[in-house]
Amino acid sequence: PDLSQRHTFGIHSQCRELHEFCSVPQLLALYTSAAPCYVMGEGSNTIFTDDYDGVVLVNKITGVEVSQSGDGVRLKVGAGENWHTLVAFTVEQGWGGLENLALIPGSVGAAPIQNIGAYGLEAGERIAQVDVVDVSNGELFSLSQSECEFGYRDSIFKRPRAQHWVVTHVHFWLPANSKPITAYAELAALDNPGPVAIFNKVIEVRQQKLPDPAVLGNAGSFFKNPTISGEHYHALQAICPTIPGFKVSDEEVKVPAAWLIDQAGFKGVCKDGVCCYQHQPLVLVNQHKATGKALLALAREIQSKVKERFGVQLAAEVRLIGKQGRVTL
Ligand code: EPU
Repeated sequence: PDLSQRHTFGIHSQCRELHEFCSVPQLLALYTSAAPCYVMGEGSNTIFTDDYDGVVLVNKITGVEVSQSGDGVRLKVGAGENWHTLVAFTVEQGWGGLENLALIPGSVGAAPIQNIGAYGLEAGERIAQVDVVDVSNGELFSLSQSECEFGYRDSIFKRPRAQHWVVTHVHFWLPANSKPITAYAELAALDNPGPVAIFNKVIEVRQQKLPDPAVLGNAGSFFKNPTISGEHYHALQAICPTIPGFKVSDEEVKVPAAWLIDQAGFKGVCKDGVCCYQHQPLVLVNQHKATGKALLALAREIQSKVKERFGVQLAAEVRLIGKQGRVTL
């Protein structure tokens, strides 16, 4: 089976078998330990860089259950639901809480794994519970918000112990008194906005900066924003006074990878069909029939140039899948 329509970067690749599942029993019947087996959603944070010598299982568990009370709304959502459709539904109902996360590509089940975040909000802040099945033994269990260990683009679902876990449902809690989050520069200009105004503004900003995967293959941010020591940051400031930074603790500063990549001269650079996007250099795009080889080559070149210039190690934000499974940069 062809994988090019199954991941938004769109590299042409094949896998040994591909199946969709709509329920846990179906998943357990399809799961195999006899070959590499990769369970995925809409493929907006996964890039197949080669033919995958294994079985791909696509999560299509659907359904949205709503329970409302005086102090908020609780939603239980199937992992295979589309993320943006869910956000749009909540905003239409007049329920605030998810509007900052409009237009993020991908499925609901993928949201807790990398704790998707944008414009001042991370999904983990609204997730009350995640339902999981361990495909190695069929065991079903749930994790509370704190048990998910959410961090910046991080959660327990990225740890080795979670390697056989598949997210089946995500429960959200949208408190009735949730306040609009407008700290992000583009949102700060809005006058006393409600969920609809923020939702619309986020869509507008994303459409300006980020390429639409349906038009130009990409997987959003390719790298994570690195966190460096305060000391390292001050040393860089001495050489480049304009370097942006956000204090994350007394000892650490988060630096925009987009800035480092831009300064390293890669913005708009194209090699063998892969480009460093001109409006947001943190995004790599499939300009023309990109191969996995070309993508990895440009990504590694960016990584080593940034390391050489700034002493900062960039780590992939996307999940790269090669012949046998996970590939690291
Ligand atoms: N910048 C440049 N040159 C550019 C563009 C940006 O130097 O051409 C610098 C600027 O200093 C700018 C800074 O980078 O202030 C940050 O840029 P931006 O606000 O676009 O956000 P980001 O940190 O690059 C993160 C997320 C995005 C998310 C936005 C908005 C990560 C890895 N990425 O990007 O998430 O949409 O913030 O909140 O944290 C994704 O994960 O796929 C994704 C798109």
